[in-house]
Amino acid sequence: MSNDNPRVADHPIDPMFLARWSPRAFTGEAMPQATLFTILEAARWAPSSYNSQPWRFLYAVRDNAHWDKFLGLLNEFNQSWAKTGSALIFAVSETTMTVPGVDSKVPSYSHSFDAGAAWGYLALQASLLGWHAHGMVGIDMDRIRTELSVPEDCRIEAGIVIGKLGPKTLLPEALQARESPSPRKPLAEIAFEGGF
Ligand SMILES: Cc1cc2nc3c(=O)[nH]c(=O)nc-3n(C[C@H](O)[C@H](O)[C@H](O)COP(=O)(O)O)c2cc1C
Repeated sequence: MSNDNPRVADHPIDPMFLARWSPRAFTGEAMPQATLFTILEAARWAPSSYNSQPWRFLYAVRDNAHWDKFLGLLNEFNQSWAKTGSALIFAVSETTMTVPGVDSKVPSYSHSFDAGAAWGYLALQASLLGWHAHGMVGIDMDRIRTELSVPEDCRIEAGIVIGKLGPKTLLPEALQARESPSPRKPLAEIAFEGGF
């Protein structure tokens, strides 16, 4: 956990939930493949409807042949800080699935929900290993689909950059001001006994 993490939970939870956050100042160091695979492995164990496991992860690690292409698929703002990340991932979900007793694939209601659970596991595993994962919706969906050959029955969910936390001073001033773990709405605003 960063030493200046101001987060306090209102109810007791494992500290790992407060330690995970989304910085933008990354050191740019190389990520060992074993680390990347451990992080992806955690995502693999997420629950999903009918155990359909609709998540797919397209990845590139820093300085390998795919890195520049992947970086170029982020919007300009996200490129400006994600360029010092160590791994870039696009999370995709399959919108159709196989269910028992039906021969052809059927639409999945929960493919995005399932892929979201997998992303959550991925981010927590990264954090447990001393890395940070930062989700990004500021990505070029159309170019990702064509340039990475994403099939038609897949939804492009989000980009993810993983890196090692570096000093704030790596960032332009405006971003330095935003570089700390954020608070949350109180439980009473998000959970309702018996209905809305
Ligand atoms: C699906 C998703 C998309 C996001 N898109 C972006 C983005 O395009 N650019 C960015 O700087 N941060 C992005 N974020 C980071 C969020 O702003 C951040 O997770 C949120 O403010 C909560 O902060 P925390 O992750 O540090 O707890 C995204 C996060 C998620 C989960």
